[in-house]
Amino acid sequence: MYTEKELLSEAWTRLEASVLKFENEPIGTVAAAIDKSTQQFNYGHCFIRDFVPSALAFLTRGQGEIVANFLRQTLKLQINDKNIDEVRAHMDGVRPGMGLMPASFEIVEEEGKQAVRADFGERAIGRVTPVDSCLWWLILLRIYQRATGDQELVQEAGFQRGIRLILNLYMLKQFDMYPTLLVPEGAFMIDRRMGVYERPLEIQALFYAALLAADELLLPKNKQDIHTEIEQRLARLKTHIREHYWLDLEKVNEIHRYENEQFGEEICNKFNIYPESLEAWAIDWVPKEGGYLAGNLGPGRMDFRFFAIGNLMSVICSLADEAQSQKIMNLIGKRWIDLVGNMPMKLCFPAIEDKEWELITGCDPKNVSWSYHNGGSWPVLLWFLVAAALKVGRKSIAERGIRIAEKRWCEYKDKDRWPEYYDGRKGNLVGKKAMRYQTWTIAAYIVAKDLM
Ligand code: GLC
Repeated sequence: MYTEKELLSEAWTRLEASVLKFENEPIGTVAAAIDKSTQQFNYGHCFIRDFVPSALAFLTRGQGEIVANFLRQTLKLQINDKNIDEVRAHMDGVRPGMGLMPASFEIVEEEGKQAVRADFGERAIGRVTPVDSCLWWLILLRIYQRATGDQELVQEAGFQRGIRLILNLYMLKQFDMYPTLLVPEGAFMIDRRMGVYERPLEIQALFYAALLAADELLLPKNKQDIHTEIEQRLARLKTHIREHYWLDLEKVNEIHRYENEQFGEEICNKFNIYPESLEAWAIDWVPKEGGYLAGNLGPGRMDFRFFAIGNLMSVICSLADEAQSQKIMNLIGKRWIDLVGNMPMKLCFPAIEDKEWELITGCDPKNVSWSYHNGGSWPVLLWFLVAAALKVGRKSIAERGIRIAEKRWCEYKDKDRWPEYYDGRKGNLVGKKAMRYQTWTIAAYIVAKDLM
């Protein structure tokens, strides 16, 4: 049995052991610090999204150098007009768009020298596109600037150019009139087939936060032509999410009585959602005092599943309004067993099962019901939960979350070994295929404690 102090001290030792070095400089953390004998897939890579909680932990300790190195290194990997001809990332001969950042990078040996090799999805399982990487990069850049007070880095021409490239890519007008971003399947933390293509909430929340960050980070002379457009997009995105993604008892009632096939501007059921698509569980699940943002919204489609990162990030960056934020926290409090259980917390709720699982996941054995992305519990979500709860003055929820994780880890000291995720309705089982010593599990615990 560990004490809390010992647990935290082990977390720091493990986090330090996960640091990835390039030419003797720390530049990131590996996804899981497992021994070489275990098959690693790409868990020896530094993922952009996985590094965020590590960065928060290091910044809180005053160690800004590793974060600056990471930001610089990933900026070099971004597709730009100088490196486009050398870029290795090709899929059937097609290169990623200008401005894109990789999902992850690794350190390899080439001709006896160390080299950094990126993965834009051209090698990743399922060949998924990392739409969230650029967004996390912008968010982290702003956090770095705020935490260290270093104004110079972001003002460097290379960084200013990098921010612009991302904006050009993400604000590109294509076939679309929605303010939300249209993305392919598995484009973010859920990087497998899970029915999360189209306009998933998580991407919209990250997009919102990243646009706010970019507008703040660009020097006036570098945003003259785009500042108004950013402001308009932010406002429209915010209204769209708050109005159309929001689900509470009142909205569920409205959907239940929706008229369909309506045409024109002043109609109620704009997306032609059929009441029959309202899932039975959702009707009785939303408590009177709670609510949440739906997982996805498109023509004839509302994904009623609760996705934790999308909802918590919406609270953190005020994409949800104050009343909605309180209701999201109320929902978590009232549906604690479903959403938190014995390990904070469920990535999405509920799990998809049977035929639906077959069709939506393509019979993915890793994503069976109540496992991994399909209703599994991810300790990395602890930092999101604590940050969101504290942001809206709900300290007791934050404390309760930390207490549960701590209790389990102190008790199961050598057994759990910081797994990537837990299985089961209540998150009682170490995930079937979970990596051990998963860095963002460790870092999230440190960050949650720091935030308190
Ligand atoms: C899994 C997760 C992904 C994460 C990666 C490395 O693929 O779905 O979000 O970045 O593992 O930890």
